Amino acid sequence: MKKKIVFSFILLFSLFFIVGCGKQNDNELNNDNIDNKIEANGNSVVLYFSATGTTKRVAERIAVQSNSDIIEIVPKIEYTSDDLNYNSDCRANREQNDSNARPEIKNAIDISSYDIIYLGYPIWWGTNPKIILTLLDTYDFTNKTIIPFCTSGSTGITKSVNDLRIYNSSLNIKDGKRFSINDSDEVINYFITSNKEEVFNTMKAIINGKEYEIILENNETVKAFINMLPKELVMKELNGNEKYVRLDSSLPIDSYYPGHINSGDVMLYENNCLVIFYESFDTTYSYTKIGHIDNLPDVGKNSLTVRFEK
Ligand SMILES: Cc1cc2nc3c(=O)[nH]c(=O)nc-3n(C[C@H](O)[C@H](O)[C@H](O)COP(=O)(O)O)c2cc1C
Repeated sequence: MKKKIVFSFILLFSLFFIVGCGKQNDNELNNDNIDNKIEANGNSVVLYFSATGTTKRVAERIAVQSNSDIIEIVPKIEYTSDDLNYNSDCRANREQNDSNARPEIKNAIDISSYDIIYLGYPIWWGTNPKIILTLLDTYDFTNKTIIPFCTSGSTGITKSVNDLRIYNSSLNIKDGKRFSINDSDEVINYFITSNKEEVFNTMKAIINGKEYEIILENNETVKAFINMLPKELVMKELNGNEKYVRLDSSLPIDSYYPGHINSGDVMLYENNCLVIFYESFDTTYSYTKIGHIDNLPDVGKNSLTVRFEK
């Protein structure tokens, strides 16, 4: 019986090695430099668990290259080499097979000041070690972006990330990447830059052949709208104070009652009605603000064609 179990482990491992080949370097860098875009990296930390030091070495390089702090997830009971001997009924295997296993963490970890968390772990039996679930149970990851990375014999990161997403569906967790210990600084740098979120602080509105700058809000509505661009829209006249158009698809909203509208305000009414106001007045309606055009020209009293670009 024991022999049979050992044989199954070996078989499974051989599969990991075959299936994992060619899984690395799967992202392509699209690093265009646009002036109106800033890279929002916020405060970042590399948070990692490493039983035998491989993930630790990658974690340290990510921390240096991304200018992040680094915190190790230290197990309360250290893993001995016997604990990690996956060809036996070792502690690590037992934990991975026990859905209730939550190995305790020794150190207190303060992630409150970080927006971005590079989360590193070795792959154990195709997924994350159970101590990562202890981490997620213990600390609040609301409003944080988790960028996972792993090391392994060959298994990719995808299953572990899917497992984490299923475990806690409120996590904002990116696809992440598996590293091998031989990966170059360029590979690490690419991982960091390709995971930086682009935040646009301005976009263009082209009106009657002339370019105007929209100073943007920083919200989900703007992010979703930016993703639709470029777009040329015919905006209808309404009430002698606004031009509006219903978009083909809805945008996320974060509406509020502004009380007062300023000429040049670009707003979303409901979840799909894009409005440019060209008069200032008081209002009782609610909108989500997209931005503001400081020098809006005379837009006339008819429909207006506006081309929106990044
Ligand atoms: C219990 C256990 C299970 C493992 N399972 C896998 C696996 O499923 N696939 C794989 O490619 N490597 C597997 N490995 C190998 C580790 O992922 C790999 O050696 C990793 O780089 C170790 O990282 P660390 O030194 O940071 O602990 C396993 C190792 C252990 C100890």
